[in-house]
Amino acid sequence: MQFSDVLKTRVSTREFLERPVPEVAVRHIVDAALYAPVGMHRYETLHLSVITNREVLERIRQTVAKATGDEKADPLHGAPVLIVVSTSDTGTVGALNVSCLVENMLLAATDLGLGNLYVRGAIDVSSKDAALAKEMNVPEGFTPMASVAVGYAASPASPRETPKNNVTKVDFVE
Ligand SMILES: Cc1cc2nc3c(=O)[nH]c(=O)nc-3n(C[C@H](O)[C@H](O)[C@H](O)COP(=O)(O)O)c2cc1C
Repeated sequence: MQFSDVLKTRVSTREFLERPVPEVAVRHIVDAALYAPVGMHRYETLHLSVITNREVLERIRQTVAKATGDEKADPLHGAPVLIVVSTSDTGTVGALNVSCLVENMLLAATDLGLGNLYVRGAIDVSSKDAALAKEMNVPEGFTPMASVAVGYAASPASPRETPKNNVTKVDFVE
C-alpha cells in the first residue's frame, strides 16, 4: 500500500473476526515497533508482550468486566492478538515512547490489511493486577501502558478522502 493510503486507511476497529493472524504478519507488526523513535535511545526501558493465548486475553477481558461492573465488557472486541507495550519509565518521555511504538504497529497492521485498535483503558486496568501482569510476561519494574489489538476486521477499512479530525486547529507560523 502507498504510505499515504496507509495513513488514510488506518481506523479503529471494534469488531474483529475469530480468524487467526498468521505468525509472519504478527512478527512484521512487532518489527515495525522496533523502528520507532525512542527518547535518548533508551530502548531498554521498553518491553513488548505479544499475546495470542486465549486464556490470557479472556483474563484481560474479565479484569475489565470486574473493574467496570459490566459483565459483558469486551475491550478487545474479539481481537486474537494483543501486543502490550510496557515501560520502566512511567514519566512523560516513557509515555511518548510507548505511543511511538504503538502508532508504528497500527500503521504496519493497516498496511497488511489487518484491523487494529489502540487499547489503553483495558491495559490501565490490567496493569493494576500483578498476577495478570505476570501472565502477560511483563518484566519486574515495568508497567504495561498501552497496547495494539490486531485481527481481521469484520468490515475492512478503505482510504478516507478527508480525516475524521476536522477540529484540531493548525497555525502556520511563518
Ligand atoms: C492514547 C489513546 C488511547 C486510546 N485508548 C482506547 C481504548 O482504550 N479503547 C478504544 O476502543 N479506543 C482507544 N483509542 C482509540 C481512539 O478512540 C480513536 O483513535 C479515536 O476515536 C479516533 O478514531 P480512529 O482511530 O478511528 O481514527 C485510543 C487512542 C489513543 C490515541
